[in-house]
Amino acid sequence: MARLQGNREGVILAATALLRGDLVALPTETVYGLAADALNEDAVLKIFSVKGRPLVDPLIVHVLDQNWVEKIAYWNDVARCLTEAFWPGPLTVILRKKSCVSDKVTAGKNTVALRSPAQALFREVLEATELPLAAPSANPFGYVSPTLAEHVERTLGADVTYILDGGPCEHGVESTIIDTTSDLPKMLRPGPITCEQIFERTGLHVAPYVHVEASGAAVLAPGMLSQHYSPHTPLTLVDTMPEVADTCARVFIARPKKVRKNDYWLSENGDLNDVARTLFALLQRLDQENFQQIYIEKVQAVGIGVAINDRLRRAAAKRA
Ligand code: TXA
Ligand code: MG
Repeated sequence: MARLQGNREGVILAATALLRGDLVALPTETVYGLAADALNEDAVLKIFSVKGRPLVDPLIVHVLDQNWVEKIAYWNDVARCLTEAFWPGPLTVILRKKSCVSDKVTAGKNTVALRSPAQALFREVLEATELPLAAPSANPFGYVSPTLAEHVERTLGADVTYILDGGPCEHGVESTIIDTTSDLPKMLRPGPITCEQIFERTGLHVAPYVHVEASGAAVLAPGMLSQHYSPHTPLTLVDTMPEVADTCARVFIARPKKVRKNDYWLSENGDLNDVARTLFALLQRLDQENFQQIYIEKVQAVGIGVAINDRLRRAAAKRA
């Protein structure tokens, strides 16, 4: 593995490796992705094996713009309208797939997840390869998503050809996913773009994300994994921060008035965009220290707060 600088030379090396069927970690505006040629089944299978991801969990395919969509999937009016308003950006739409997309990418489903990332380096790689790129978050399956090149290097560094360094990710939580294949568009994963923003910009009503505790067979269904995004250190979600032992860390949403040893905070003043941006990096950092337990505050469920609480709830869920 080599870490590539985020410049033209890095982009060309990354693109060349992808065209060969190699895996390359690329920055996006949400989290780092583990990318491969979406039309090369062997390359796609490497993604699953390197991440330790079950084959039943489908991948998101990244495209440069709307013009690339018809190569891969069938348009519908809702998806046209959503992508017109929010692409490039942190919005993934589910569409009916065309047959050129391997069942491996979609885990046997007849639909495919598509997104056009806004991150400039990722876009340059798409332009250079002219390939749709399958890319899940570049973390081992179930672990905290990477928002810095070093997160990828530490966990998957041995298994990728390159990591293209784009610095810290702008949003810090994964894209919003909207299923546009049912009568009423439905949010499958909350992210940086909210139902309110969608309504304001497009007039479309999207059924909001509903958290369901999965059990039995549903545990293995896409996007339904209750335990996900988890650091190795046990995490406890709290409404009000308790006093804790010296061996534990406390993570506040905003800088606390009185700071104790092993206190951390995700923003100065509670700005939820700052919280989203810093959350995964702080969890990864605290996981490197030997805390017995991490206590972390929930946020208000408004705007990107819905996505933050979703990730926190899954990160705190007990391992099966
Ligand atoms: O922001 C993001 O979306 C990042 C960056 C790298 O683009 N990618 C990402 O991918 O979060 P991943 O694989 O970690 O999450 C993809 C989610 C999974 O929960 C998967 O089940 C769901 O998308 N998904 C993919 N295809 C689907 C489909 N056809 N129907 C329903 N859910 C799907
Ligand atoms: Mg992921």
